[in-house]
Amino acid sequence: MAKAIGKTNIAVFASGRGSNFNAILSAIKKGKIKANLALLISDNPQARVLEKARRAKIKTLLVKRGDFSSKNDFERVIIEHLKAAKIGLVVLAGYMCILGPEILRAYKNRIINIHPALLPAFKGAHGIRDAFRYGVKISGVTVHFVNEEMDAGPIIAQEALKINEGDSLGSVAARIHKIEHKLYPKAIQRLLARRLRLSGRKVFLKGDLT
Ligand code: GRF
Repeated sequence: MAKAIGKTNIAVFASGRGSNFNAILSAIKKGKIKANLALLISDNPQARVLEKARRAKIKTLLVKRGDFSSKNDFERVIIEHLKAAKIGLVVLAGYMCILGPEILRAYKNRIINIHPALLPAFKGAHGIRDAFRYGVKISGVTVHFVNEEMDAGPIIAQEALKINEGDSLGSVAARIHKIEHKLYPKAIQRLLARRLRLSGRKVFLKGDLT
C-alpha cells in the first residue's frame, strides 16, 4: 500500500534541460499540484535545469557521483539533504543516475519517474528514439514508481501517442514532451492527494487522469 503523502515538500532530480521541472513548477504555481518544490538535485554541472531552478529561486544542489568513492556514500549524502529539507516525494525528471538500495529503502514508494515510451517497451536512456527507429505505430509516456530495476516499477499512469507516417524523430519527441508536461503534474497530484492504491505491481487510481 502506498504511504499517504500529505502537504509535501517535493525534490526534483534532473540531469538535463529541465522541461519537466518547469512543468511541475508551473503546476505548483497554478495550484494544480498542492506541494512545495523545495529542492532541485542534479548530478550534472552543465544541466540547464540548474539555471532554471536558480532563476525560479528554488534551492539547488549539485551532487556528483564522481566525488564519492562508493554509490552508497553518494546516496547517503543525498538522503541527508532530503531529510534536512523534509522531502516527502522524490520526482525524477531526466535524472541520469540509477538509484541504489540506500535511497530506495529510505524513500520506499515515494520516488517516481517519467519515461518517454510505453513501458515495459523501450526502457533506457533513449526511449523516444528507440521506439521511433523500431517503427512502432503507437508510443507514449509512462509515469511509474521507482524500484531496484531500471524503468520497471509499478505503473502509475500512461498515455499513448499515435505515430504517423509523416512523423520525424523530432516531431515525435516534441509531442511526447507535450504529453509529459501534462501527465506528470496530474500523476504527482493524484499521488499527493492519496488517490491511488498500490497492490503488488498494480496501482489503482480513483478516477482517471484526464
Ligand atoms: C524526459 O523525456 C523524460 O521522460 C526522461 O528524460 C527527459 C527529461 O527531459 N526521463 P527534461 O530534462 O525534463 O526536458
